[in-house]
Amino acid sequence: MQGYIDLVNSGLSELLYDVCDGQDYIVEAMNYSLSNGGKRIRPVLTLEFCRACGGNPEDALCLACAVEMIHTYSLIHDDLPCMDNDDFRRGKPSCHKAYGEEYALLAGDGLLTLAFETALKSKNIESGNLIEAVKTLANLAGVSGMVGGQVLDLQSENLSPSLEKLQTVDRLKTGALIKAAALLGCYASNRADEKMLAAAERYSECIGSAFQIVDDILDVTSTSEELGKPVGSDEKNNKMTYVALMGIKNSEKEAERLTDEAIAALECFADEGSFLKELALTLSKRKS
Ligand code: IPE
Ligand code: IPE
Ligand code: MG
Ligand code: MG
Ligand code: MG
Repeated sequence: MQGYIDLVNSGLSELLYDVCDGQDYIVEAMNYSLSNGGKRIRPVLTLEFCRACGGNPEDALCLACAVEMIHTYSLIHDDLPCMDNDDFRRGKPSCHKAYGEEYALLAGDGLLTLAFETALKSKNIESGNLIEAVKTLANLAGVSGMVGGQVLDLQSENLSPSLEKLQTVDRLKTGALIKAAALLGCYASNRADEKMLAAAERYSECIGSAFQIVDDILDVTSTSEELGKPVGSDEKNNKMTYVALMGIKNSEKEAERLTDEAIAALECFADEGSFLKELALTLSKRKS
């Protein structure tokens, strides 16, 4: 895990400063949010799925960094006063608190577009696979995926809660990018067959839902010191969450059930799935 995280961190700083010459202020704002503090779960998934499918994880590095750039942009925008209005992220003031709203908006835009430039810098990925990867990333990050989920999340503040609506919100706002991370790793390997792609899809759907359930639980049970972001944000914004809908105990049970289902989906990887199995278990028990 640490080896992957180090690889991603050095990749990110190199890729950021490579293309953004002469725009010091906005690049500083982008780097402020991108560097340090993030768990790097999504890029780790990309690198590990590439390896598990028989590829070289380093070939997936540009795609992994692209996913993390999109994730970071989503956090910058998610914290804005017009969205969740949260002043703290990754253990320090949110981007808009440090650089102002207008620059936080642009830092997010900059990271989103840089992600696609970065993805296309990939080496050793066959062109058909790279095209498929970039298409998947655009689709799952956009209106059909994460952006659409954030829209539904905002609208849910005024709706009567239901499990079905909540599952849809979570599948899109959080699950979609986690799914993209897994699938991009498969494409980067140049070796993924239909079974591997289906397994990556099922695994990532399950850990994606579990991930948001645990996020909702920690918003109630943790501290802002431990999380590096404010607690109580969901209640403040009247969000539809698992905790609000079914309480903490049942939410924990649902996250465990989904984690078991994710692990079961790894069957076709046999021993090569052991890191992904551990990762699913670790994420379900995470404290931040
Ligand atoms: C937070 O994601 C937003 C959600 C989708 C729940 P992470 O918990 O992965 O945030 P970082 O990257 O570690 O800061
Ligand atoms: C965020 O969900 C999902 C995104 C796409 C950013 P949350 O609003 O629950 O994430 P946190 O708790 O602020 O990290
Ligand atoms: Mg939000
Ligand atoms: Mg939020
Ligand atoms: Mg949250």
